[in-house]
Amino acid sequence: MDGTRIDVPAGVTILDAADSAGIRIPTLCHHPDLRDAGVCRVCVVEVAGQRGLQAACTYPVTDGVAVRTGSLRVTQARRDVVDLLLAEQAGDCPACLRYGRCELHDLAAEVGAGGLDCPAPEPGRLVDLLGPSVAVDLNACIGCLRCVRACAEVQGIGVLGVVGRGPSTQVSTYGGLPLSQVSCIDCGQCVSHCPTGALQAVDGTADVLAALADPTKHVVIQTAPAPRAA
Ligand code: FES
Repeated sequence: MDGTRIDVPAGVTILDAADSAGIRIPTLCHHPDLRDAGVCRVCVVEVAGQRGLQAACTYPVTDGVAVRTGSLRVTQARRDVVDLLLAEQAGDCPACLRYGRCELHDLAAEVGAGGLDCPAPEPGRLVDLLGPSVAVDLNACIGCLRCVRACAEVQGIGVLGVVGRGPSTQVSTYGGLPLSQVSCIDCGQCVSHCPTGALQAVDGTADVLAALADPTKHVVIQTAPAPRAA
């Protein structure tokens, strides 16, 4: 890796092999608590013999494979990915609860992203009170699915999922139901695993409960599909 021989057990990922040798590969959708999904592409590296860049967090090493983690092609691709994620952010960052603790912003500083000259999208995508304890601000969501995986893998609950496809993909509950109507246990794992301010803890005050009852503030993203006829 980067010209250094690394001995690791067969089958570990490039990311883990790099980590064992003290080589830093930036990540975003990766989290040590979670199984890797390879969705953000921030961790891309060059693998000898592969035409396209590969996600280090999901690519298993094989004997003798040569990897470049910091070539010009890799660093430019990584910066482009983070630039595009930043360009999707439509919220008011200084007002965000995670302002100053946002993993995306830390990552942008690390890879030198933030120089993309494009108009910011209009704020106003969905801010959905999923329940009395959790809200999702899709203006800040980067689609890393850490919340969905944390709900299923850390807590074993699995009430969060995604609806829609491509750019319309959104985090929601399965069936689009408020968390109060599914088996959410208010554990907060989705909030603590979110790298931005997209998943936020809210308190179950009267204001929040009133907002939940207000259909202009609580938007059901998608209703459950009708069961198929046998
Ligand atoms: Fe590897 Fe997101 S960290 S694809």
